[in-house]
Amino acid sequence: MVTYVLAVALLLITAPVWGQQPRQLCLSCHPAHYAERGQCSDCHRGNPASERKNIAHAGLRAGKYARFTINNGMQMREGERLLDQLACRRCHISAGRGNRLSVSLDVSASRKTAKELALSIRRPVTNMPNFGLEEGQITTLVNVIYAGSQGRQSADSAPVRVHFTANGTKSGDIFTAKCGSCHRILSERLGAVGNGDVGPNLSGLFSKYYPQTFRNGARWTDSNLRIWLKNSRDIRPQARMLPVILTKSETKELESVIRLSTDLTR
Ligand code: HEC
Ligand code: HEC
Ligand code: HEC
Ligand code: HEC
Repeated sequence: MVTYVLAVALLLITAPVWGQQPRQLCLSCHPAHYAERGQCSDCHRGNPASERKNIAHAGLRAGKYARFTINNGMQMREGERLLDQLACRRCHISAGRGNRLSVSLDVSASRKTAKELALSIRRPVTNMPNFGLEEGQITTLVNVIYAGSQGRQSADSAPVRVHFTANGTKSGDIFTAKCGSCHRILSERLGAVGNGDVGPNLSGLFSKYYPQTFRNGARWTDSNLRIWLKNSRDIRPQARMLPVILTKSETKELESVIRLSTDLTR
């Protein structure tokens, strides 16, 4: 086993010296396919230097997650539409654009397998909304994340330091006190605050990546938020949120928490 691993390592190290692509031992088990577009591992990853399936398949990207490699315009448009509609960029960077409240998906694309990316969307962490997507939509999102990350893997996009607390709440801040029973938000310094899922996750509310759902497609701003808190039904007749009365200083503190969830845009 050890000799085998060494041999594989040697092959990988010396291959570039020969000035050739490593041999695609995938071909010992699979027929050639899309050969004119590149090597198996360009599209599927895996380890083409091994004839052993479990080694060759390490980090393998199945065909359905590799469709972005074959210029699938319709799927890419659908993926972009989902990224926009679900406002993934209120928390993540994808294709170089978005808030830096969580990891950059451009970086995740190079570090995680397709299965891991899909799982993170299927079963999101506590502070990522569960969008309840169908499997086909998840596959489309993974493809569009890969497509957007191409050539950007080394992007200088360290996420903002968002500090997570065990139960997702921190007492003492205005958001937890007045909004946190129904909403969550990721905000610099405070981290993940609020633990309610009754209302939408408000991360990045004042940024251009948050859905522009105020009135007639207008963006959320501090003055618009004040109007909403006074009486949401002036804006949205069917709104289920009751008025929230805040003092002047509470309003200021709240706006600063939300701004720290926003001034991180690129
Ligand atoms: C020793 C034989 C062997 C080698 C070497 C091998 N494969 Fe496979 N591969 C299989 C078999 C058998 C399957 C059928 C599904 C399974 O058992 O995982 C498969 C399945 C796949 C699938 C479908 C996976 C899925 O989740 O549906 C892809 C894609 C694939 N291989 C690509 C590759 C690539 C790329 C390489 C080289 C880096 C490679 N394989 C090397 C035997 C091999
Ligand atoms: C240009 C990108 C590209 C290259 C190169 C490529 N594939 Fe694929 N492969 C795909 C895509 C996309 C699919 C999904 C089905 C389709 O659209 O044809 C796929 C499907 C497959 C499947 C069927 C199972 C599945 O996961 O869907 C296997 C097995 C596979 N490829 C193995 C290989 C092997 C082995 C090589 C190298 C000889 C290779 N592929 C080269 C893009 C590629
Ligand atoms: C409210 C903020 C928020 C929104 C909106 C959001 N996410 Fe996330 N996402 C997170 C957090 C927090 C994590 C966990 C990051 C970590 O583990 O450090 C995460 C993790 C991920 C991961 C795993 C990344 C990795 O490297 O492990 C993927 C993939 C992902 N999100 C995709 C999406 C997609 C696609 C959307 C839109 C459909 C989306 N996210 C919307 C907050 C969000
Ligand atoms: C008792 C629960 C509750 C509390 C407390 C609450 N909200 Fe809401 N909020 C909701 C619900 C439910 C909605 C969805 C409104 C609808 O039905 O359209 C909502 C919607 C919103 C929206 C609209 C977002 C969008 O994308 O449409 C904003 C902004 C908002 N709340 C801000 C706040 C802020 C800021 C606080 C604290 C000062 C707060 N809310 C407190 C329940 C609550």
